[in-house]
Amino acid sequence: MTLILEAEGLCKRYENHLTVLNGVDIAVEEGEFITVIGRSGSGKSTLLNIVGCLDSPTSGTVRIGGREVNYDDNASLVNFRRHSLGFVFQQFNLLPLLTASENIEYPLLFTGHTRNERKKRAEELLAIVGLEDRASHFPPQLSGGEQQRVAIARALVNRSPLLLADEPTGNLDSQTSFEVFKLMQEINQEHETTFIVVTHEREFGWYSNRTIEIKDGKVVV
Ligand SMILES: Nc1ncnc2c1ncn2[C@@H]1O[C@H](COP(=O)(O)OP(=O)(O)OP(=O)(O)O)[C@@H](O)[C@H]1O
Ligand SMILES: [Mg+2]
Repeated sequence: MTLILEAEGLCKRYENHLTVLNGVDIAVEEGEFITVIGRSGSGKSTLLNIVGCLDSPTSGTVRIGGREVNYDDNASLVNFRRHSLGFVFQQFNLLPLLTASENIEYPLLFTGHTRNERKKRAEELLAIVGLEDRASHFPPQLSGGEQQRVAIARALVNRSPLLLADEPTGNLDSQTSFEVFKLMQEINQEHETTFIVVTHEREFGWYSNRTIEIKDGKVVV
């Protein structure tokens, strides 16, 4: 058993004395598909942002792939984000002036890949998410579900072993939501990418190996 993520004693307090996370411990094995649930305001996004190196904890430690995240060192955080994880947002966050293919390639501009390597990798990913025929579409020319597929492809482009998604289906209708979950499940099974997905929909729990619930600042067991 190899742990891809270990979070220990994570606390997040804001200056207004609001304690959002109050000692969260999580251990995730490589290849797991985890859903994270909890009431609105319970701290799901806070937790995912900390694990995703987009925010820092007030105290506690996070280890990804056995390496402890140093939240004080911006350069190492950027490096971690580039190589160790992919992030998918509820609002897709695609760059509107780039095509689907260019959006997918975009993270590779910072990792020393040649133009040909980038193009080839984007083609591979478009095939994985079933959008080969939408490569040259701009985001406004894609449906919500298609945009989220592109965002998932972009999050996978660096072959990151860990993919974090914060309500990736929050802006999609229920049929499209199921399709996006099914796609993530297929990628999890075929490519062994570990997924941690925040969702409001308890029913998506059955796509996962395990559901983590956050309540009163802690993980409910
Ligand atoms: N920068 C901030 N300063 C103060 N409080 C904050 C800040 N960011 C978030 N919070 C508070 O932290 C709590 C947790 O927010 P978070 O976004 O993690 O909740 P969530 O579980 O993702 O909710 P939702 O399901 O609505 O997305 C909320 O009460 C929120 O108001
Ligand atoms: Mg949230």
